Formats: sequence, C-alpha cells, structure tokens
Amino acid sequence: MSTESRTLTVKIKRYNPETGVEPAWEEFQTSADPMDRVLDVLQKVKWDQDETIGFRRSCAHGVCGSDALRINGVNGLACRILVKNLKSDVITLEPILGLPVIKDLIVDMKPFFDHYKSVMPFLINDDPPPTTERLQSPTERARFDESTKCILCACCTTACPPFWGDQKYVGPAAIVNAHRFIFDSRDRGAAQRLDILNDAEGVWRCRTVFNCTSACPRDIQVTQTIQEVKRTLLTGEVDNEVVVASAME
Ligand code: SF4
Ligand code: F3S
Ligand code: FES
Repeated sequence: MSTESRTLTVKIKRYNPETGVEPAWEEFQTSADPMDRVLDVLQKVKWDQDETIGFRRSCAHGVCGSDALRINGVNGLACRILVKNLKSDVITLEPILGLPVIKDLIVDMKPFFDHYKSVMPFLINDDPPPTTERLQSPTERARFDESTKCILCACCTTACPPFWGDQKYVGPAAIVNAHRFIFDSRDRGAAQRLDILNDAEGVWRCRTVFNCTSACPRDIQVTQTIQEVKRTLLTGEVDNEVVVASAME
C-alpha cells in the first residue's frame, strides 16, 4: 500500500435554501494521506478553504451516527471511509436523500426521528416489578442483539428507493428499532408495535431492495430484520408465542 499523499478533487453539493439559488456542485483540491478518513478531508477543506461549508460530525469514530453522507453516490459515514479505499481521486459528497436539506450536507433529521418515535422504541412492561432485575437468558438476549447495534445514522432509510418516493414510509431504521423491542422477552408492547407496522406505510412498503443492508455501517442485516417482522405479522407469533391475530387468517 502506498503511504504517499494524494491530491483529491472534492466535489460538494452546496445549497442554502434561504438564498433561493438551486443546489450546485463546488470543487476543491486538497491533499490527503491514505489513512485519512473522508471526514478528515472534508474538515481540511472547511478549515483551509471555505469555512461556510455545512456538515455534521461529532464522535469521528463511527459511534454517534451524525456524519451520514452520500459519498460517491453511496451512503456511508464520512468518518468510516479511508482515503486509501477510494478508487478515484475525485470524491463527491452530497446530503443523504429523502430528507429536507437545511444547508449543504446537513439534512433535517426530524422526519426520520418522528418515524423512529412512532414505533415506541422503549421497553413496555406494566407487570409488577420484580424484587431484582427482569431476568433474561443469554439466548433470549441474543434474539435481538442484531438490532441493538443501530446508531440511528439514517444511512439505511435514506438509501431506500421506496422512502425516496414516499417519506410517509416508516423506513428500515424504525423497523430495526421496533424489532429491538418486539423480540425482547421482557417487553409487553409487541402487539402495539406490530399494529403500527402492519400498514401500507409500515413494513409492507418495503420491497426487499436490500439497499438498507448494504448501506448500514454497523453491518446490521436490516432486510432480514424487516422480514422477521413481516413474518411475525403473517404468523401472529413472536418466537412461538401468539401476540397478534395472524394476517393470514
Ligand atoms: Fe444506521 Fe444501520 Fe441503524 Fe440504519 S440500521 S440507522 S444504517 S445503524
Ligand atoms: Fe428499502 Fe431495505 Fe426494504 S432498501 S425496500 S427497506 S429491503
Ligand atoms: Fe460520529 Fe461519524 S462522526 S459516526
């Protein structure tokens, strides 16, 4: 692997809705080392050349989920993509699709979080509290481990063609977070969440495109998660326990 720095052309889609001017690409030249991340490149351009470029970031380590971008046409976290893995010396950076642009690479995440909140992503259990913890076996905990890894970056939902065409679709991220609780043995809210998702704008809007799975920086099997929720609606059972009337009846 070459350790030499590269000269990159960074093309950023600029937009400020307050000006009334249409979005337009702007190009910058900068140098980057192989182990720099796309986020480092973007920051360097901002610090050295144009401090008005708008983008979000926080942790810079793939944990907070705030720097999801469309990078060379594919959704990803800018802090997770190394310069050495870029095939071209041109990087295009656009805001993720399907959410209103506030400025440049910053989108309004409210519609995304509204969908997330709509599936009640919290433990529901009105049983009398036990004297110690609500116990759970390792197998029961493993049942929903996949969906606990979500960092709410929106890479999946904004890579989904049905969501691009219909922002009322609850989207894959919300379904992953519903799955997180539907399959939790301590939770009692599965029927309510399944009722919400049993809708044309719920899981049935998913056309099994798989873009969400490819886009997920946490390697969550998003499409499989959605399929498990669909199957639960069809059978009416969560892990052999009846929770809702089967949609097949
Ligand atoms: Fe991001 Fe993956 Fe969660 Fe979707 S499922 S919001 S891509 S971490
Ligand atoms: Fe969209 Fe993923 Fe389904 S990309 S159509 S939510 S499999
Ligand atoms: Fe936090 Fe990239 S800045 S995930």
